Amino acid sequence: MSKNDEILVKVSHMTKKFGDLLVLNDISFDVRKGEFMCVVGPTGCGKTTFLNCLTKLGVYQLTSGEILINGEPVDLAKHNVSYIFQEYSAFPWQTVEENVAYGLKIKKWPKDKMEKQVNEMLAMVGLTEYRKYYPSQLSASMLQRVSIARAFATQPDLLLMDEPYGQLDNSLRYKLEDELIKLWQHTGTTVIFITHNIEEAVYLSERILVLTNKPTGIKKEIVNDLPRPRDVTDVAFNKLRDEVTDLIKWW
Ligand SMILES: Nc1ncnc2c1ncn2[C@@H]1O[C@H](COP(=O)(O)OP(=O)(O)O)[C@@H](O)[C@H]1O
Ligand SMILES: [Mg+2]
Repeated sequence: MSKNDEILVKVSHMTKKFGDLLVLNDISFDVRKGEFMCVVGPTGCGKTTFLNCLTKLGVYQLTSGEILINGEPVDLAKHNVSYIFQEYSAFPWQTVEENVAYGLKIKKWPKDKMEKQVNEMLAMVGLTEYRKYYPSQLSASMLQRVSIARAFATQPDLLLMDEPYGQLDNSLRYKLEDELIKLWQHTGTTVIFITHNIEEAVYLSERILVLTNKPTGIKKEIVNDLPRPRDVTDVAFNKLRDEVTDLIKWW
């Protein structure tokens, strides 16, 4: 799906320590524009830390190394980055449509353009008839759809997803994964998707970065060119899943 070989995110010698604890240990890799990259790694290896370092929030300055977006240090005023976390992030005091419009208001989209975009996003995730509902009135999968609609609404250059479906049951997860792939194909957004679910990584990604335990490095980078739509019962799918499973047996 990647349209070209242009690099959007360049991670060079990324190293992060918390006190004496070496978490990310000299990690380098690139993410191409439009690519869907999955990062898999054991709990505590620093996956969330990596996303936080990408945006340099609070204590999350790299100890050494750098992360560039479009060849420049990350600047959230300039680079349009969205996140979806595992915890539902919808504001409880706002309706579904207000939640989806949130980032657009911050970016001061004109009202008519904003309405059009909100309508389109709500339709894409099947929430049009729930637009006036509050988060407390929604199911788990609907809440994740709100997060997805909100994240895609601002047409981000880069979408960061941190184990967003970790707490959902399998059938919901499959549905949301299919919707996510549709949105990704439709928008061309670059996605970095973190998971510890191997099947999910093989289902979604174009490339899988397999991390080691702390101090964390890259165990292997795997190109995933299985045709879409993918089928979890397919022989080639299972072969790749087994290959990744073998890599992480010693977590
Ligand atoms: N703000 C912080 N201060 C100190 N240690 C931290 C902080 N954030 C994360 N860590 C530590 O860094 C390691 C990686 O954490 P995390 O990035 O949450 O892992 P993952 O997301 O892969 O499960 C853990 O050992 C965690 O305790
Ligand atoms: Mg985490």
